[in-house]
Amino acid sequence: MQTQNSPLTQTQRAQFDRDGFLVLENYVRPELVGTLRDRMAALLAGFEPEEQQSAFIGNNEASDDGYFLESGSEIRYFLEPDARGPDGKLRRAKDLSMNKVGHALHRLDPIFERATELLEVCTLARQLGQREPLPLQSMYLFKQPRIGAPVALHQDATFLYTEPASVIGFWLALDDATEENGCLWALPGGHELGLKRRMRRVGAVETRMEILDPAPFPEAELRPLPVASGSLVVLHGLLPHLSQPNRSSQPRHAYSLHLIDGATHYPQDNWLQPLPQEKAS
Ligand code: FE2
Repeated sequence: MQTQNSPLTQTQRAQFDRDGFLVLENYVRPELVGTLRDRMAALLAGFEPEEQQSAFIGNNEASDDGYFLESGSEIRYFLEPDARGPDGKLRRAKDLSMNKVGHALHRLDPIFERATELLEVCTLARQLGQREPLPLQSMYLFKQPRIGAPVALHQDATFLYTEPASVIGFWLALDDATEENGCLWALPGGHELGLKRRMRRVGAVETRMEILDPAPFPEAELRPLPVASGSLVVLHGLLPHLSQPNRSSQPRHAYSLHLIDGATHYPQDNWLQPLPQEKAS
């Protein structure tokens, strides 16, 4: 596995500061994309969908789902919301029913762990201002053909809250991501608008959403970020972004990572607990 990355230029860092996102085209070689896709296929082969009932609901509302809330330090499997029929059986093949797998692939699976190192996200995070980059969460996102659900407009800092805000998202396209199959959309400069909502854990299996600023985002200014497979999109933790449903016949897989600055305060009522002990070098 090899990447083609190099340190960010001053221009790229200035773009990130201005827009709240950065698109790094052709960031990794196709071999790395293939390695991650193949590894996920192998993991899915060992997954028994009858053992869990959780579907991922991408509406950013609070959760009362223990399977989700305990997934921060596990590799857990989430189905598309309508993956099951009325009889409880999957409507489609298992590999076409998944919404995502998360949230500790980068720590618990050796292939994803190695790939995460090759992505050099800690180096990028340092260049973008983090003092102690800490890979906190990883997700393999499927966005299945025809049924891939949307993810509503949100800021990642809502879910991975630090004081001060520090989370940076890294989104590696494992397919060409287009408007038809549900590419990312972002609000350029929207990271300057402040955090609108914060998810707080209020118990072992429950969270609540706290409204910090009820003013809506200027959604008309959202713009699509179509990228080719192997490209890396970097997202400021306060940047409003979303993805549309997949209305195409093509999949839209992606590998997503979120890093916080370990030098910031990470409250104990963030949903993802406990904080991983190991820190990036
Ligand atoms: Fe996000």
